[in-house]
Amino acid sequence: MNISTFNIQPTSRFAGSNTTIRRPREIACFSYDDQRQFHLGETSLRYYYPPRLPADLNRGFDTFQQLDDSADEHLDALLQTIIALEKETGKKCEADIITWRGMMTKILVAPFDIMNGFEMNATRFQDTIFIEENNAYKNEQKIRQRNQRMPPGMASQDLMAYWGYKFETLCLLRQPWDPTPREEIESREEQIVNNSSQYCSVVRTGIGSTRIVIGGEVDAVWDCKPDRKEDPIHWVELKTSAEIHSDRDMLKYERKLLKFWAQSFLLGVPKIIVGFRDQQGIIRRLEELETSSLPVKVKKYGKGVWDGNICINFAAAFLEWLRNTIHGDGTWRIRKLEKSPVIEVFKVEEHGFGDILSPAFSAWRST
Ligand code: A3P
Ligand code: MG
Repeated sequence: MNISTFNIQPTSRFAGSNTTIRRPREIACFSYDDQRQFHLGETSLRYYYPPRLPADLNRGFDTFQQLDDSADEHLDALLQTIIALEKETGKKCEADIITWRGMMTKILVAPFDIMNGFEMNATRFQDTIFIEENNAYKNEQKIRQRNQRMPPGMASQDLMAYWGYKFETLCLLRQPWDPTPREEIESREEQIVNNSSQYCSVVRTGIGSTRIVIGGEVDAVWDCKPDRKEDPIHWVELKTSAEIHSDRDMLKYERKLLKFWAQSFLLGVPKIIVGFRDQQGIIRRLEELETSSLPVKVKKYGKGVWDGNICINFAAAFLEWLRNTIHGDGTWRIRKLEKSPVIEVFKVEEHGFGDILSPAFSAWRST
């Protein structure tokens, strides 16, 4: 097997602030409803309105309507949205890379996340590289995470995952605040938590010389979506995190901020609202973070465990290399082993697109 490798270390090669980045702009969107049905457009768009504090995130765990996300959805919903966009504009959606935001996040944080691994599948079609998550790997990771032994007194992994969705439910409205009846705002605490519904933004962005189209979930909008398509959208990302008591907690939180930043930076989400919770899952305070100020906050005023410029320069160099590595027919694996400082790329199928491209998409592009 012929393996090409890209070294993540030494990360000092990626220092400096010389990479051009294009401000992400939304070009399309789609929604999943409470039954996980796909719809083009913004039916699942939600509005932020602060929750009442203190908030108990445990309430309703027994009635949680949890999505089974073990099935392989490939890039289907993203490609379906791109087909609709191309039909509407009459133009091909040109890009060097089309993928989910989650894949780009893994690449962006790689310089400061040597511990974790990832696996993706990729194929080249009409001069665009399409990248999906390797679903078997994702499911294995999930099982491993669930089986992790938790220290005594700590909440289970399942309960902690519920806390995150519960927090979202407490913070969201189906309409802007103004037309929302007061009873609806006040009944959010009793609302059944369902994590099937999603609003996904499809954005065009760029890192270095690579033009990227990514799709990813956004939690809410601060006010309303602007009327003019070119105006930035005031998206809000909602997160929960453990209250910080010690230096060690602070270090853990800063590492988490890397993920918050990367995820939000990629879609152009300007604000992150963190609900700080205690060990029992009670939120007592919120903090509003500006995405763009996080790298400086960590580097200058924190413990400096990551550097946003290094992430961006690394991603630019890696993606350029990837575009030269994945060429011709077939499908490839992009893999980083746990604790490894290299990303490996190798061919897994000599011909075809695997299941990365939906039949509908290749048929549409071939007409
Ligand atoms: P928190 O981020 O507040 O923990 P996201 O913020 O990425 O949209 O995810 C929303 C919530 O989904 C998370 O809330 C968490 O509850 C759950 N979640 C996301 N990724 C997860 C994972 N890998 N394992 C367990 N829960 C996860
Ligand atoms: Mg969130």
